[in-house]
Amino acid sequence: MIDAPPHRDPLVPPLLDAQGRTMTYLRLSVTDRCNFRCTYCSPASWGGKKDLLTPEEFERIVSVFARMGIRRVRLTGGEPLIRPDILEVARRIAAVPGVEWLAITTNASHLERLAVPLREAGVTQLNISLDTLSEDTFRRISKQGDFGTILRGIDAAVGAGYASLKLNAVVMSGVNDAEVGDLIAYAHARGITPRFIELMPFGQGTPVPTAQLVERLRASGLSLVPDEEPQGAAAGPAQYWRAPGGRVGFISPLTQNFCGGCNRVRVASNGDLRSCLGGRAQAPLHTLIRGGATDAELALAVRRALGEKPDGHRFTEPGAGASLLTMMGIGG
Ligand code: 5AD
Ligand code: SF4
Repeated sequence: MIDAPPHRDPLVPPLLDAQGRTMTYLRLSVTDRCNFRCTYCSPASWGGKKDLLTPEEFERIVSVFARMGIRRVRLTGGEPLIRPDILEVARRIAAVPGVEWLAITTNASHLERLAVPLREAGVTQLNISLDTLSEDTFRRISKQGDFGTILRGIDAAVGAGYASLKLNAVVMSGVNDAEVGDLIAYAHARGITPRFIELMPFGQGTPVPTAQLVERLRASGLSLVPDEEPQGAAAGPAQYWRAPGGRVGFISPLTQNFCGGCNRVRVASNGDLRSCLGGRAQAPLHTLIRGGATDAELALAVRRALGEKPDGHRFTEPGAGASLLTMMGIGG
């Protein structure tokens, strides 16, 4: 006797993409606006009001993803901390059952005020963008913002008791590449892990390949040995090295393809799911929520966007699924 294939609840883990990779990490953009104008970056918009998700809607989306196996959430932007309700967003997401880790990527301009309240709201890690220790270079790169406020914001984060702090610098030839050693020392002196990112061609500037940067650091007398801790999917796309003061990370989107270990899903600030930064597949989660979609319908839309062929259609909620195709169109 041959058993019929089991019907599968779309909310039950694992959440797989078309390559069979298990998704455990959700990146949520909470705003597409930023108070800086960095030369290398072009957020979708610098200002103006957009139809952003509410804190309740973020909580709903995260709870669906958490039921599917997402354990780590990162809030990105734009600049996440310019949302007036960022503490409520963080509090709601941190309280979702299954969420073990909540991180924010920030330019530090609001950290002096928010580092402690965000920690209390349940944020566990911060990635802070800082490309330079020179006020002139800072102004040249970021165009806006007060450098002293940034440095005080970083110190507030250091004192707030986060499980992990990282400092991200985009390296640009002739702009800040001579400062990489100083940035490493600055970060390690504060218990922060510095990471250096190859410039991607979204704006102005010339990248420095990671291998060249490592060679230059060694030539300057810094001892760098490959880190023995696990790399790849567990650590994210960064490759880590060990220096006398601590770990140093390099993120090399240009010279190393790290997609093989990818475990992340992205949701844009308007609620569109993107399976990949460069990918096309999307699901309009915001529209689905406002249209009254059930958790199972949202989960199925997510699975379809990630390219997993659904192998069943039995949902936990009665009546789920019937309206999905009309709401999202075929192939969403
Ligand atoms: N290349 C590399 N990283 C970039 N970021 C923004 N634009 C670029 C780019 N062109 C990253 C920076 C910044 C974060 C918000 O996004 O690391 O810290
Ligand atoms: Fe882009 Fe970050 Fe600079 Fe804002 S602070 S412009 S998001 S790189």
